[in-house]
Amino acid sequence: MRVLSGIQPSGRLHIGNFFGAMRQQLNLQAEHDCFYFIADYHALTSNPSPADVAQRTLDVATDYIALGLDTEKTVFWRQSDVPEVTELTWLLSCVTPMGLLQRCTSFKDKVAQGLSPNHGLFAYPVLQAADILIYNSNLVPVGADQKQHIEVTRDIAIRFNNAYGEILTIPEEHIIESVAVIPGTDGRKMSKSYGNTIEMFEPEKTIKKKIMRIVTDSTPVEDPKDPDKCNVFALLKLVAPADELADWENRYRSGGMGYGEAKKRLAELMIDYFRPFREKRVHLENNLDYVREVLAGGAERAKSVAATTLARARDAVGLRG
Ligand code: ADP
Ligand code: TRP
Repeated sequence: MRVLSGIQPSGRLHIGNFFGAMRQQLNLQAEHDCFYFIADYHALTSNPSPADVAQRTLDVATDYIALGLDTEKTVFWRQSDVPEVTELTWLLSCVTPMGLLQRCTSFKDKVAQGLSPNHGLFAYPVLQAADILIYNSNLVPVGADQKQHIEVTRDIAIRFNNAYGEILTIPEEHIIESVAVIPGTDGRKMSKSYGNTIEMFEPEKTIKKKIMRIVTDSTPVEDPKDPDKCNVFALLKLVAPADELADWENRYRSGGMGYGEAKKRLAELMIDYFRPFREKRVHLENNLDYVREVLAGGAERAKSVAATTLARARDAVGLRG
């Protein structure tokens, strides 16, 4: 099975990204033919500074490799190194009804938040469809927030094939079975846009400080507490061994435990969990040329697949000599 997914380089990755999506994507490598890329074209829709585009792309690439991307097996590249995808985007745009894009909730949400949208943001799902279709992907592991974009991709692919013949592979969505939404330090969904993230690779001291500041309710120490309503417990679930977690659950329910104690242990467990990856990341930071080489090699492999699909699509629509 060809598995494909992309991530936008819109800032340093956080534990919500890791436990919500990356870990599952990395696990799929053992059994599938994985194509993972950094969606820098998509990131341009929010007009980052040029220096940020380059830096964040390299940062995200380094994070992925440090966290276990298999650089031999998995094809890993920077989206813009294969510009063929933008040409397929155009061919697909011409079979995409406006209404399909107008119904996309991620677009509607951004407009509702007061963002004045550019055309790139509106057309974003068509570029995403081209990403998926140009590499003949079968499965697309994404978080629930991206489900609609995969449905749009299928719709566009079916329309294209109906018009021009069986050129494109229709992908299946593969919604990552979610470990629920991972809360940030303020209790809302952890997200770069809320400034409530804990990053895997920020200094250990900062991780600890952020964890100690996680918002909890004001139940007195001696009273019983509901673990299912606690942001600290939600994060403990991700990193504590099962027997220890059961222990914490009992202590919450029986009272006599302060949140500070749980936070302290959470900080230790979180830091321990990422320690081996952190060491690998430091090593990569000192060898950024290696990271660049991985991306360049991936781009070459990706390009050969993309060029073949694009040639077939061009021919099918009549762009031929
Ligand atoms: P952010 O909200 O920080 O901008 P992105 O939307 O770039 O993060 O996240 C990339 C992927 O990581 C998402 O598709 C989603 O699957 C996953 N993800 C991000 N934040 C969380 C979270 N708090 N809980 C679970 N999954 C998350
Ligand atoms: N839109 C995705 C996000 O913001 C990133 C992305 C771009 C993607 N192209 C893709 C995901 C293709 C899966 C497949 O998270």
